[in-house]
Amino acid sequence: MTDTLSAAAPVSSSTGKERLARRMERGAAFLGSEVAILGGAMSWVSERNLVAAISNAGGFGVIACGAMTVELLDREIAATKALTDRPFGVNLITMHPDLMALIDVCARHGVGHVVLAGGLPPKGSLEAIKAAGAKLICFAPTLALAKKLVRSGVDALVIEGMEAGGHIGPVSTSVLAQEMLPELADQVPVFVAGGIGRGEAIAGYLDMGAAGVQLGTRFVCATESIAHANFKKAFIRASARDAVASVQIDPRLPVIPVRALKNAGQELFTAKQREVAQSLDEGAVAMAEAQLQIEHYWAGALRRAVIDGDIEHGSVMAGQSVGMVTREEPVAAIIAEFMEEAAAALDRRRG
Ligand SMILES: Cc1cc2nc3c(=O)[nH]c(=O)nc-3n(C[C@H](O)[C@H](O)[C@H](O)COP(=O)(O)O)c2cc1C
Repeated sequence: MTDTLSAAAPVSSSTGKERLARRMERGAAFLGSEVAILGGAMSWVSERNLVAAISNAGGFGVIACGAMTVELLDREIAATKALTDRPFGVNLITMHPDLMALIDVCARHGVGHVVLAGGLPPKGSLEAIKAAGAKLICFAPTLALAKKLVRSGVDALVIEGMEAGGHIGPVSTSVLAQEMLPELADQVPVFVAGGIGRGEAIAGYLDMGAAGVQLGTRFVCATESIAHANFKKAFIRASARDAVASVQIDPRLPVIPVRALKNAGQELFTAKQREVAQSLDEGAVAMAEAQLQIEHYWAGALRRAVIDGDIEHGSVMAGQSVGMVTREEPVAAIIAEFMEEAAAALDRRRG
C-alpha cells in the first residue's frame, strides 16, 4: 500500500509545465524543435520572416510554397536559412505542376520536413521526399485515408478541422480528433489543427494523444508577419462568426470551401464561379482546368488582401479562432502565452 502511494507520488507532484513538456516530447523530437507547435503554412504570410521567427521562438515554422516557382522557393529557403539555424519545413501543394522539381529544391537544401497538402501524394513524390532523407507530413481528411497514408510510409499526420482558416474540409476538429487520435496516435505523430486559440485547447488535444498542434490564424498578427496592416487590423476587429466558409453555387463545379472574413470579395468569388461554370457549359474548359482556375483565383485574391491590403475585395482567409486575436505581438510572446495556458490547464489536472 505504502509502495503504491510512494510510486504514485512523483507523478502527482509534477508541475503543469513538466506534464506539458512530457506530452510534447514526442512531437518536438520529431520536428527537432523545443515545443510541438507547428506554424501552419499560409500562402503569402508564411515566408522567411514569420517562418524563421516561429522556429527561433522554439516552434516549427513552415514555408508556404503555394504557387511559387522553383526559383522562388529556392530563394525563399536560402533566405529563411539566413535568418534561423533551427529546423523548419516546406509545405508543397500536390497539384503544383512542378512538384517533383520543388521536391528536388527541398532536397538540395537539406530541408528536414516536407508537408504535402492537397490530397494523396502523387506517384513518386513520397519516394523522392524520403530518398532525400526528409520526413513527410500529410493531411489526413478521414480515418480510412489516414491509415492508407501511414501504410504507405508517411511519417506524421496533420488533422485539420473546418474551424481553420483557408481551404477546409467538412468535419470539425473536435470530431476528427475523437475519430483519429485513438486509432492513430500510437502509430505516427499526429498534429491537430483548426480552431486552436488558447493553450487549454492544446492541453486537451495532447491529453487525447496528439503529438502537437498546428496553428495558423493566431500567427497572422505576429509582429514578424509581413501581412499588410489592414489585414492585421481586420483580424483584430473580427469575431469568430465573421470567419465564414465560401458557398458552392454550381453542383457540377465542386469547389473546396475556403474560410475567410465576410467581405465584398465573397461576391466576387460567386461571380467567378458563375463565369467558370459557364465556360464548362460551353465546353471551353475541362473540369480539371475549371478547378485550377478557381485555385488561381484564391491565390490572387489572398495576395490582394495580404500584400496589397485590399481587405474588401481580396480574400481575408481566417479561422474561427480569429476572435481570440486581440493585438499584434511577437511570435515568442504568442508561443509563451500558449505554453503558459497549456501548463496551467495541466496543473489543474490533479484531482
Ligand atoms: C491566411 C491563411 C492562409 C493559409 N494558406 C494555406 C496554404 O497555403 N497551405 C496550407 O496547407 N494551409 C494553409 N492554411 C491553413 C494553415 O496552414 C493552418 O492549418 C490553419 O490555419 C490552422 O487552423 P487555424 O487557422 O484555426 O489556426 C492557411 C490559413 C490561413 C489563415
